Amino acid sequence: MNFQEKIRNVPDFPQQGIQFKDITTLLKDGPAFRLAIDMLAKPYKGKHIDVVVGPEARGFAIGAPVAYILGSGFVPIRKPGKLPAETLKYEYSLEYGKDALEIHKDAIEPGCQVLIVDDLLATGGTTMATIKMIEQLGGKVTGLAFLIELSFLNGREVLAGYDVTSLVQY
Ligand code: PRP
Repeated sequence: MNFQEKIRNVPDFPQQGIQFKDITTLLKDGPAFRLAIDMLAKPYKGKHIDVVVGPEARGFAIGAPVAYILGSGFVPIRKPGKLPAETLKYEYSLEYGKDALEIHKDAIEPGCQVLIVDDLLATGGTTMATIKMIEQLGGKVTGLAFLIELSFLNGREVLAGYDVTSLVQY
């Protein structure tokens, strides 16, 4: 399947000069969505993944079904002020702007094997923040799986030393 055909390009969103990769057109297509999730999960089948960690918000739509297929738990990473219990907070840079992320402190047990799943790898800032939080809590990051990789932003270099897979590269 040509996943690029299923992803809509939206020019100048959320600001001038950014071409947004809109995955809602892929998500609404049942066979394409299922195949994308199956392909993302496949390399990790049979490997021991305790939890899939997915960053808000599109990371939930991709990460949760991957966790379901692997029989793993799912742990959300959220923007500040959204998680109700005690959190660990980490500040990071985005492709456009700056933000912070939080995880529940008790979401990752020491020694926990983690797969990080998100819709998009751009600068790698979100993923690096996620890795730092998981490792600070004693988890081990086994892999990083993305639907889309914006190769020209060199996120892979930021994530050197980690096992990165992506379904679609631009
Ligand atoms: C997007 C995307 C990734 C991140 C990638 O999320 O879903 O999480 O940016 O960018 P990076 O590699 O440069 O960090 P966004 O913060 O726009 O959140 P959303 O999914 O809630 O729209």
